[in-house]
Amino acid sequence: MESTTTAARSAKGAQQASATNARSATSGPRWLRWAKVAVFVAAWYPLARIVFFGVTDRLGANPIEFITRSTGLWTLVFLCITLAVTPLRRLTGWNVLLRFRRMLGLYAFFYAALHFTTYIWFDKWFDVAAMLKDIGKRPFITVGFAAFVLLIPLAVTSTKAMARRLGRRWQSLHRLIYAIGVLAILHFWWMKSGKHDLALPKIYGAIMLALLGWRLAVWLTARVRARGA
Ligand code: HEM
Repeated sequence: MESTTTAARSAKGAQQASATNARSATSGPRWLRWAKVAVFVAAWYPLARIVFFGVTDRLGANPIEFITRSTGLWTLVFLCITLAVTPLRRLTGWNVLLRFRRMLGLYAFFYAALHFTTYIWFDKWFDVAAMLKDIGKRPFITVGFAAFVLLIPLAVTSTKAMARRLGRRWQSLHRLIYAIGVLAILHFWWMKSGKHDLALPKIYGAIMLALLGWRLAVWLTARVRARGA
């Protein structure tokens, strides 16, 4: 009985998620369309900043390091913002926030791809032996790589058509975002612990803990209620 109820709820959740994705990006009131354009443009700021610094010769003594760090940090920022959509929607009742989630998640992937490309191309020049040697010295890179690999299926299935096609499985697959969040913090923490500079990883770790902890609390409460019913 309980499993039937859980399955029904999960199917309903998947339908809602698919329906949200299925809604056209151009649908909705005019202000919403403008808000989406504003978010879309604002999300280019990190890349524009790198290009501007590059053109004005302000990337510092080690430009590759600057770009790797900047794109890594912005990947994490977009991951956190994407993960904040659901709690904010539930706490404020602003369902419209869901209309931004796909775009924000895709920007997380975009900056992760730039971060990864900077490393394998501009830092290592596709030299596999050099990369393996580096990974041996700095194992935190493997954790970042795992997070990036997990982001790929989410980006590939982020379209409305894929959400419709996968149905309930779409929601299960997109729960990978929680593992990605944990791996991203681990990658950041591990990297900075080698430099004895944990101030930022602690802040992002606390934000991630709050975002994932909230979901765990909601899930546990729902389970306890379902048992009591
Ligand atoms: C979701 C995926 C990823 C996230 C969220 C992420 C995030 C970060 C963050 C926040 C930093 C530190 C930035 C700072 O110093 O302020 C960083 C550094 C770094 N990441 Fe990633 N990363 C990811 C994937 C990857 C991948 C796939 C690679 C390479 C295969 C990679 C390689 C590196 C390297 C080498 C550094 C250190 C740069 C340095 O020492 O200057 N990361 N990453």
